[in-house]
Amino acid sequence: MTDLLVEPATRPLVGSVPVPSDKSIGHRALLLAAIATGRSRIRRFSFGEDNVSTMGALRAMGIGIDEVDAELAVVGGGLFGLQAAAGPLDCGNSGTTMRLLAGLLAAQPFATTLVGDASLSRRPMMRVARPLRARGATIEGAAHPSRDDITAPLTVGPLPERTFLRELEHASDVASAQVKSALLLSGLYAHGKTFVHEPHLSRDHTERMMLALGVPLRAVGTVVELDPSGWSGVMPPLDVEIPGDLSAAAFVLAAGLLVPGSRVTVRDAGSNPTRTGFVEIARDMGGRVAVEPRGDMAGEPVGHIHVEYTPLRPARIGGELVPRAVDEIPIACALAARASGTTVIRDAAELRVKESDRIATMAGVLRAFGVTCDELPDGLEISGRAAPLEPAEIDSRGDHRIAMTAAILGLLARGPSVVRDAACVATSFPRFAGTLRALGANVRAV
Ligand code: S3P
Repeated sequence: MTDLLVEPATRPLVGSVPVPSDKSIGHRALLLAAIATGRSRIRRFSFGEDNVSTMGALRAMGIGIDEVDAELAVVGGGLFGLQAAAGPLDCGNSGTTMRLLAGLLAAQPFATTLVGDASLSRRPMMRVARPLRARGATIEGAAHPSRDDITAPLTVGPLPERTFLRELEHASDVASAQVKSALLLSGLYAHGKTFVHEPHLSRDHTERMMLALGVPLRAVGTVVELDPSGWSGVMPPLDVEIPGDLSAAAFVLAAGLLVPGSRVTVRDAGSNPTRTGFVEIARDMGGRVAVEPRGDMAGEPVGHIHVEYTPLRPARIGGELVPRAVDEIPIACALAARASGTTVIRDAAELRVKESDRIATMAGVLRAFGVTCDELPDGLEISGRAAPLEPAEIDSRGDHRIAMTAAILGLLARGPSVVRDAACVATSFPRFAGTLRALGANVRAV
């Protein structure tokens, strides 16, 4: 089992680095390429484990995917070109793989079982099952061990011959791009419209990519509508280059914001406004962050993001900002750990059902580094610590974003820290330690 050894940063971090390409966009490019017609090109694909899970699932359903360096060629056979897999599809640690596939498979004439690792097998799946059932799909899961919900293994379909998914109007009580995307994917097959309304806008990569492929979709504010009447049902192949993942970039940017004297740039990171909550949080805390626009990739804005160390002040984080920073709340906690006062994070109950209960795990991580914090039902209250942090030994609990946040906190401690069970970092950022070393930090996998 891999651990990360983190030495305190004794000098500024300096340099310009790339990060892996965007995981969320990668999943969507693969899934849409698989049901488009023809040979798609996906350039600068990230081989993070979550994206590889989606790739494996599609291959198991007969989709040809060739890998040449970081480029994929995917041969899609149209909406009905998938074949029944010989066994269960393993979604690994990836909630996006499982939930988006549930939507795609709901309309197939065969049944598919979706399985995942221990963490994914605790995550709630009723949020996709209920609306999919409401439009006529069959979807069964195991009883959730602790909540009134279902979880993996999920069995999705079959949709009997000559039946079709029906119109759906769904008001989701959580802002979730995974739910929204699952319903839009099922909506490609439906006889009738799909409306999804969310309390706040979640990431809109599915909408952008579907629109670029000619899918009759309209998105206004927090409502999206897909009306397939009159649509041919044929999507042309994609040719996309995937921008850098802002969610991976956030760890590198936080290191630059926190280690005194640092100046760090992340090159060509996606800067879609539905994802830039972390940049706004950092700026609100007084962080020096500049986004240098670099045009578009895959219908998504990209830019070089520059940060410079500066002392930070506390913030209040909540409301519509949370879904736009949902995966970055742990690393935002690291900024709060060094701010000159108490930061309050609310409206983030969703963090309890991510790869780990990130509210509880972050509270434990912060305390281990000597930072005072209180756990709230939907967030955290964190008192920034001016003195160097205590060196800590942290168990990642198999959660990649917890492991990486702990490593960044370790840079600020007064002695070496260890992050145990850190192989999970490869879920989203396989070269995490090497990227920090390139900036001058001493972080090693052992
Ligand atoms: C994702 C959406 C988010 C995010 C996850 C990736 C996606 O989940 O936490 O890491 O690619 O759609 P929710 O939409 O469920 O909040």
